Amino acid sequence: MIYMDNAATSYPKPDCVYDAVDDYMRNSGASIGRSHSAAADAAFGIVSQCRQQLALLMDAESASNVAFTFNCTDSLNLLLRGILKRGMQVVSTQLEHNSVLRPLNDLTESGVSHKLLEFDSQTGLIDCKDIERELTQSSVDLVVLSHASNVTGVVQPVKEVAALCRAHGALLLLDAAQTAGHLPFSVREMDVDFLAAAGHKGLLGPLGTGLLYVRPGLEERVAHVRSGGTGTVSESAQQPTQMPSRFESGNPNGPGLAGLAAAVTWMSDQTISQVHDLIQERLSQLCNGLTAIDSDRLHVFCSDSVSAGRNCGVLSFVLEGIDSREVAAILEQSFQIACRAGFHCAPLTHQRLGTIESGGTIRFSPGLFTTEQDINWAVEAVQQLCEFAE
Ligand SMILES: Cc1ncc(COP(=O)(O)O)c(C=O)c1O
Repeated sequence: MIYMDNAATSYPKPDCVYDAVDDYMRNSGASIGRSHSAAADAAFGIVSQCRQQLALLMDAESASNVAFTFNCTDSLNLLLRGILKRGMQVVSTQLEHNSVLRPLNDLTESGVSHKLLEFDSQTGLIDCKDIERELTQSSVDLVVLSHASNVTGVVQPVKEVAALCRAHGALLLLDAAQTAGHLPFSVREMDVDFLAAAGHKGLLGPLGTGLLYVRPGLEERVAHVRSGGTGTVSESAQQPTQMPSRFESGNPNGPGLAGLAAAVTWMSDQTISQVHDLIQERLSQLCNGLTAIDSDRLHVFCSDSVSAGRNCGVLSFVLEGIDSREVAAILEQSFQIACRAGFHCAPLTHQRLGTIESGGTIRFSPGLFTTEQDINWAVEAVQQLCEFAE
């Protein structure tokens, strides 16, 4: 089976990730930060090292600015529900995933309003002028932006948006679900206040891992949504206020974090730039192959973003006249290609792209272990489907 669904979760992982999870389960298994046995200390060390490596990878001020969560959805919920209060205003975009859209919709019942800005369906980009207009016209508290869409892969101009937020006193939350591990970036250079990411996608860790970066000093503005044991200041019945324990109640996902630690060490050894270049190579091959297919039925979305170097590693397409979910089923059954078709938990993106009728898009997201031959086969499969559909 050729796995082309790395935007959902990366697979396979480097061998060291499997080994680290197995080793943790068999030889440590202790509760992290709770007791002081040798095994518990070793487990705590693994998690601390993971935090340190992630902070280095993202260029965070310190490891304590990174809180572990269970996935990107968890990070986004902790932040949105923790910071937004009655009367606050949020600006976001139609590119967002349901992990942003649904909490924002829930929060309207608590008196939090939001506005979702359109994007250009050809380029896949938001227009910074729209953001500037909103920030100028009303008192916006928070801007929430997908670093890259999980439908088109197009990377958004985050530095420009951050500069506008800074100038108008709004905070910026970046959803880096699709970019963490795929693009080398610095939270300080991008000048974001909060960043949510998954550990199990581009960062190559196991499912059940995620992270939330909070700029130093801002944690006090984010109420904790979960409270409980943190293994720190246990003599107090109050939730600790400091990062990261403020947001880390209950036993963490030890095996998952051990795997993530191994993945991030592996990624740092390879260097994230090399990982990025490799994925871009496969993506360009895929994009060139698909756009060269001579068929009026085939529509590849935002393909120019690939040659412009503005795509994190995701391509969506439709075959006119065939439901996308049916195409994906044929790709799996007849060509042994696993991909994701449908609406990708991003219904407004599909509305804007005009892909509701086609049952969404078919999404190919190559990963680090996708080979040149895999891409050739994927292009050949789409070519054959186009011929069959004529
Ligand atoms: C842009 C975006 N945000 C958030 C998420 C949610 O990530 P998770 O599955 O880790 O909760 C995804 C998942 O695909 C995503 O693509």
